[in-house]
Parts: sequence; structure tokens; C-alpha cells
Amino acid sequence: MAYEVRGVVARGKGAPVGVETILVPDPGPGEAVVDVAACGVCHTDLHYREGGINDEFPFLLGHEAAGTVAAVGEGVTTVAVGDFVILNWRAVCGQCRACLKGQLQYCFNTHNAAQKMTLADGTELSPALGIGAFAEKTLVHSGQCTKVNPAAPATAAGLLGCGVMAGVGAAVNTGAVQRGESVAVFGCGGVGDAAIAGAKLAGATTIVAVDVDDRKLQWARQFGATHTVNSRSTDAVEAIKGFTNGFGVDVAIDAVGRPEVFEQAFYARDLAGRVVLVGVPTLDMQLTLPMIELFGRGGALKSSWYGDCLPSRDFPMLVDLYLQGRFPLEDFVSETIGLDDVEAAFEKMHKGEVLRSVVVL
Ligand SMILES: NC(=O)c1ccc[n+]([C@@H]2O[C@H](COP(=O)([O-])OP(=O)(O)OC[C@H]3O[C@@H](n4cnc5c(N)ncnc54)[C@H](O)[C@@H]3O)[C@@H](O)[C@H]2O)c1
Ligand SMILES: [Zn+2]
Ligand SMILES: [Zn+2]
Repeated sequence: MAYEVRGVVARGKGAPVGVETILVPDPGPGEAVVDVAACGVCHTDLHYREGGINDEFPFLLGHEAAGTVAAVGEGVTTVAVGDFVILNWRAVCGQCRACLKGQLQYCFNTHNAAQKMTLADGTELSPALGIGAFAEKTLVHSGQCTKVNPAAPATAAGLLGCGVMAGVGAAVNTGAVQRGESVAVFGCGGVGDAAIAGAKLAGATTIVAVDVDDRKLQWARQFGATHTVNSRSTDAVEAIKGFTNGFGVDVAIDAVGRPEVFEQAFYARDLAGRVVLVGVPTLDMQLTLPMIELFGRGGALKSSWYGDCLPSRDFPMLVDLYLQGRFPLEDFVSETIGLDDVEAAFEKMHKGEVLRSVVVL
């Protein structure tokens, strides 16, 4: 028998989201139903609502969540009812060509639930990033449940399920920031500030935060930025060179995902430096660069999907660092809200008033 719960649905491009009754099936083989305890509002949810990811409306939004396993289907052995888990969108298959090369962080065939959650009239929902956690319960593949220490509050732990992991991993995994290196992070929302915290964790000694909003730059300092630049009023590339003896940074991270920001990141790095794109561009964006600059500067241009994380390796580790007071997970939570407040949270995100609004269920 299906569960009848409340969930936040985006019905069409640009239309305000609303809370609707959704039907969550009992878990089938390999699946799990999770009682969602908390779910952060990520910019990617807004991208979905705006039709920037794909056109498969209606979406069940929310994908940055923690909760408790409520039921498991046949054959599930990795988690059990009552386990405290963070939901992930990288349940690796172990069999695709990336997995077989030992590069599980690129898995091309990640697992999601086989069954569909639906609206009350039977319309199938597309869960954001295969999760859909702005809902009292959600159905996922059991591999999407990563068990972590239940001592961590769900509001903070859930953020590792997307934005914070993406940011930390962009610095630590994709950018491979080393002790003593210099890093610039463009865009200081939840993802960018997590990249700053990750760069600090890795031992970077110069960490430049770039944003167009002074409030965001102030917060970025709290996460470890040693310098800040408001790129609305100051040339970010020149400023970054000024902080790095005229050379540019070792690692430049674009946590916005717009061509003009990527271009700044491209030119703000030292010769042979790395550029990491973690911000998600929309379908219409184009990038033009002089090819000789691409060649002449050397180094690497990398994209970071989910911070190249492995949930089973990285979530418990970051939760432990948080519980030891070594990673400021709780500082990303700007406010806790209800399911009915997601549309208002998008507005606050848009205005730059919050780092993360977290829905508590
Ligand atoms: N790659 C991944 O796996 C992954 C995971 C989660 C989120 N994301 C993406 O990361 C991006 C950031 O997400 P978020 O939740 O932190 O969003 P956010 O809206 O909280 O933060 C974006 C920040 O960028 C700043 N900004 C906007 N335009 C700018 C510009 N031209 N120059 C400098 N700063 C600018 C804003 O002021 C804001 O502080 C989004 O594109 C999101 O979709 C990617
Ligand atoms: Zn795989
Ligand atoms: Zn996200």
C-alpha cells in the first residue's frame, strides 16, 4: 500500500512551487522508503523549477536531505529500518565502464528507485536528482542511503547530501588543493562557502572569496576566506593577481556556473593552475575563449559533479570532522522552515539573504 504524504511539486517552467499530496509506493527490491527529517534548499532545485535542467515536469523537488529509514524492500542488506542516513545522488553501480576502471566517482549508471512516486491522480513525478526529499517520505534506491553517526543533527547532516559535499569536494577532490596553495572561489553561496571551508581543511594559505554581494563576502570570511573581492565594483582577476604576487591562484573554483564567471576563473589562475567548474550552467549558455590562451596557460579545466565524492567514503568522514569541531557544517544553516515555505526560500536565495534554508519535517 502506498504512503500518502505531502511534498513540494514544481508543475511547470517558472511557476511557483506548491505543496501537494503525493503517493510513495512501498519499497520494491533494492529500494528504501525514508522518513525525511530535514532537506536543504539548493540552487539546483530552483534550476529545476526554471526548466534549466530538463523539461520532465512535474518535479518533486528537494535533494539535500537526511532522515531515518522507514522501510526496505527485498534484498536490501546495506541499511535497515531505523538507520540515520544522508541521501545521495551517486549510488554507484559497480559495473559501468567508469566503475570498472576504478573511477567510481564518475559512475555513468547510478542507481535510483525503479518505481515512481506519483501525484494523487497517478501522474508520475520526476524526483530532483533522483531523490525528491521536500516530502515527508521519499522512495530511493537503498544505495542512495548513506549511514552516518546519528549524533549529527539532520539539518546540518543533510547538507552533505548535495551543496556542501559538492563544494568541499570541488576543492579537495576535483581541485586537489594542497597545503600552502592559493585558491579563489567565485560565488559564495552554500556551494562556494563549502569550497572555501574545503580549501581551508586542505591547508590552503590564500583563499580569495569573490561574490557580487558584500553580505556573502562577510560570511565567506567566517568559512576561511583570507581575502574578499566584490566583483561588481572591482576587477576580480586583477585583485586576485594582487593577492598572489601578480601570478594568480593555483586553483580557481567557479561556484556560480555562468560564462562570465568561468572566464574570470580561467584568467585568475597561475600558469598550470586548475579551474574547477562546480556551478551548473543552464542549457542556453555558451563559452568562447581564445584557444591560444587555453593552450598557453596549461593546467587543467575540470568539472566537478557532486565534488567527485564517494558518499560512503566522504559523508561519514565529514560528519565525524563536524562532530569533532573541525568542520563548520552547522554554520551553513541560515534558517529552518516548513514545507510550505520553499517558494519563499527561493526568493530569499535569489536576494542573497540566506546560505541555506533547511526544510524541517
Ligand atoms: N556540481 C554539483 O554537483 C553541484 C551541486 C550543488 C549545486 N551546484 C550548483 O552550484 C551553484 C551554486 O549553488 P548554491 O546553492 O551555492 O547557490 P546560491 O544561489 O546560494 O549561491 C550563488 C552565489 O553566487 C553569487 N553570484 C551570482 N552571480 C555572480 C557573479 N556574476 N559573480 C560572482 N558571484 C556571483 C551569488 O551572490 C551567490 O552568493 C548553482 O549553479 C548550483 O546549481 C552544483
Ligand atoms: Zn558505475
Ligand atoms: Zn543540490
